[in-house]
Order: sequence, then structure tokens, then C-alpha cells
Amino acid sequence: MIKIGVFGAWRGNAYIRLFQQDDEMELVAICDKNIDSPLDEDRESFGDAALCSSFDDFLKEGKERGMNTVFLANYFHEHALFAIRAMQAGMDVVSECTAAATLAQCVALTECVEQTGRRYMLAENYPFSTENLKMKQIIRSGALGSLLYAQGEYNHSGSNEELHRLTPGAYHWRAWLPRTYYLTHALGPIMYMTDSMPVYVCGRAAHSDLLYKIKDWRHNYDGVGMMFCEMDNGMIANFTGCTAMASDYSRYRVAGDTASVEWGGYIENNKVRKFYFGHTKPADEPQISLLDANLDETDDEEKKAKNAGHGGGDYRVLHEIKEYLLRGREPFFNVYRAVAMSATAILGWYSCLNHGENIRIPDFRVPVQRDSVREDTRTPFPDENGAGISLPCALPLDFSQAHTKSAQDR
Ligand SMILES: NC(=O)c1ccc[n+]([C@@H]2O[C@H](COP(=O)([O-])OP(=O)(O)OC[C@H]3O[C@@H](n4cnc5c(N)ncnc54)[C@H](O)[C@@H]3O)[C@@H](O)[C@H]2O)c1
Repeated sequence: MIKIGVFGAWRGNAYIRLFQQDDEMELVAICDKNIDSPLDEDRESFGDAALCSSFDDFLKEGKERGMNTVFLANYFHEHALFAIRAMQAGMDVVSECTAAATLAQCVALTECVEQTGRRYMLAENYPFSTENLKMKQIIRSGALGSLLYAQGEYNHSGSNEELHRLTPGAYHWRAWLPRTYYLTHALGPIMYMTDSMPVYVCGRAAHSDLLYKIKDWRHNYDGVGMMFCEMDNGMIANFTGCTAMASDYSRYRVAGDTASVEWGGYIENNKVRKFYFGHTKPADEPQISLLDANLDETDDEEKKAKNAGHGGGDYRVLHEIKEYLLRGREPFFNVYRAVAMSATAILGWYSCLNHGENIRIPDFRVPVQRDSVREDTRTPFPDENGAGISLPCALPLDFSQAHTKSAQDR
């Protein structure tokens, strides 16, 4: 039985509902400091779970109830810190994205997993959407030939009201998040579909005048952060962080030398488009097909996946958690792939700040490669008192507007 505690009850609430409905899981504790959060509104529905407002109490109360796993849905930039505390207290960890907010944390998290022997996985859900899984099936069939190029675009903009709601407090992480940092929904599916790891990254960001108007309370006023990577399977990939560019879709595309697959954008929902050249098309297939994103699940599974949210991703992450913790199947997003994504986000941002410098991403599986970044604690995120920032969270204005200015001057 997985006896789980959830730390952070906002996003965490979606998983609380899933854990409560699952016969192989017992929800034993919930922790959230914010009395205005759903924790308070939904107090009655949390059953016998211990409700705590501090992490220390959560570990203590949870331990008394046999808690063996912690699900981290706390602040984006604090996951590694609390993952380490939970593992040191003898618990396994499932973490929301991102795994780590600095390169030093990438090293510390990796070494904590190795030294404690605790189990760790990232709960990245977008690779497990129905359409992305369908794409993975097609790619694994070999239809694409050798893989050349992959693309992931994750778009999430919002009105000022929505951004306010999502950004409570002057030092909330969403007000300081550089555009490249939230990349797991774009890079994660690419890695999972093509079984690849990023090796080099370069990045570029672009300033948004619309976001600049709210710079007093959201300091990350770039509209897009785009990264370009060499992957360890020889493929190249480009992908966003979380972008706010005017576009009505997220999209994913993988192209090989014989065919390509994609979904999102102008392609209708629940469909995956497969394309062959005339000269690479098998005799029994059309050149272009629009395939139903159908995964041969039972009706019941399909319904549960749909109801759980994020295109079925959340439900299938729950499945991954159980396969790992109850039946010993290694998760794809283990600590090494999780920190590889965080490091790509961070180094992608360093690159943006340096006109697209190409930077090698350490392979955290190799201990000696950790040493070059072990002491790198640079962060764009303030602490709860507003201190500690050592990296800008948006391009310097003179840098980002240099071309506009010179064009006007001409
Ligand atoms: N995978 C997805 O689709 C998805 C969707 C939404 C959010 N997320 C991730 O989930 C995480 C949480 O995001 P969110 O949307 O819930 O917003 P959020 O980060 O504002 O909420 C975090 C919650 O944790 C609580 N918390 C944080 N630190 C705490 C502490 N020290 N003690 C007690 N409580 C604490 C806060 O009170 C808050 O309710 C983020 O990392 C985000 O990236 C993922």
C-alpha cells in the first residue's frame, strides 16, 4: 500500500482526489500553510488525513500514520529542498515539476537519491496525454526512420485577473520565473517519445510589451523563451518553456527521414497527423493520415483518464507512480532525467542572457560531470523576504530592444 502525504494543496488537490479514489493508495496527510487555499474549503472531504500547516508537523504526523511517500506540489522552485528533507526522513518522493531550481540543487538532489537509496520520480504529466502517447506508439513502430527533429511548444497565457490569481504575493515564484524554466511540458514529451536526453542547449528569449505593462508585479516580462538542443540520439530538438505568445495552441512534432507525426495547432483535437513522402510511403498506407488518438484502453480507463485532467496525463502519472512504488518498474522520469530537464531550463536561460551561447548540459549520471556545477547556486527567485536573487528573470531591456531601436533609427 502506498501511504501518501501531499505537500501543497492547490495543484496537489487534483492528485488528492485521485489518491482518494485508488484502492492501492491511502491518503494519510496533507500540508498547506495557506488557510485560504482549497485545503480549508475542502477540509471536510479530506477524510482521516492529518491536516498540517508546517512541513515538520507533516513529516511527524505522517510518520505516525505510516506515511511512506511524499507527493510534492509546493512552490515550483522549492521542490529539491523538500524532496531532500523527505528522503532523509525515510520517504519516497514524487515531485511536481520542476525537480530543481539551481544547478547546485540538481547535484544535491541526485546525490541524495543515490545516498539514501530512496525512490524518486518526477510527476511530469504532458508526455502521458493521449495524443503524445499515440505519437510515441507511432515513433516506436519505426515508421519515421531515423529521427531528425522534434518540436515542443507549450503556451499558457492569461488575463491580468488570472495572472493575479496564480501569483499570490510579491515574492511568488510565478512573478520571477524566467521563460525557459517551465520547460517540462514541452521537453518532457520529446524525451519520452524519442527516448532521448538533451546534451547541448542554446536559448533565445524575446521581450513582450504587453507583459512589460504589468512589470510592477510580474517581473518576467519576456513573452517567449525558446531552446534548441542536440539530443543524445543524434536528433535536434527545439522547444519552449512556458510561453505567452499569441497563439491558440500547444503542439508537438517529431520528424524522421521517412515520415513525421504531430498534433496540436491546426490539427483537430484527439487526432494525430502522420505524413510520408511519396517515395517513402508504404504501399498499404496513405501519404497523409489523420489518426484517432486511441490507445486501446478499456472504456473505464479512458473515462477515468479523461476525467482526471491534462489530456489523461494526471491519471497515467498515477499509474506510473503505482508501477514504480508497488511493482518496481523504473519510471522514465527518474532523478537523472528529471534534473537533466531542470538543468536544460537553467542553462537555457544562461544562454538567453548571453545571446544564444551553446552550453553543454552535465550528464548527472556521471559523478565527475557534476563537479563543474556543484557550487552554482544562481537563482532568479527571491526568498520569502524578497532577498537572494542572483540572476535576472527577464532579458535586460537594452539587450532585448536593441534591434527594434536600431531599426527605428535607420
Ligand atoms: N503538471 C501540471 O500540469 C501542473 C499544473 C499546475 C501546477 N503544477 C506545479 O505544481 C506546483 C504548485 O503549483 P500551484 O499551481 O499549486 O501553485 P502554488 O505554487 O502557488 O501553490 C503551492 C501550494 O503549496 C503551499 N506551500 C508552499 N510552500 C509551503 C510550505 N513551506 N509549507 C506549507 N505549504 C506550502 C502553498 O500554500 C500553496 O497552496 C508548481 O511546481 C507547479 O509547477 C503542475
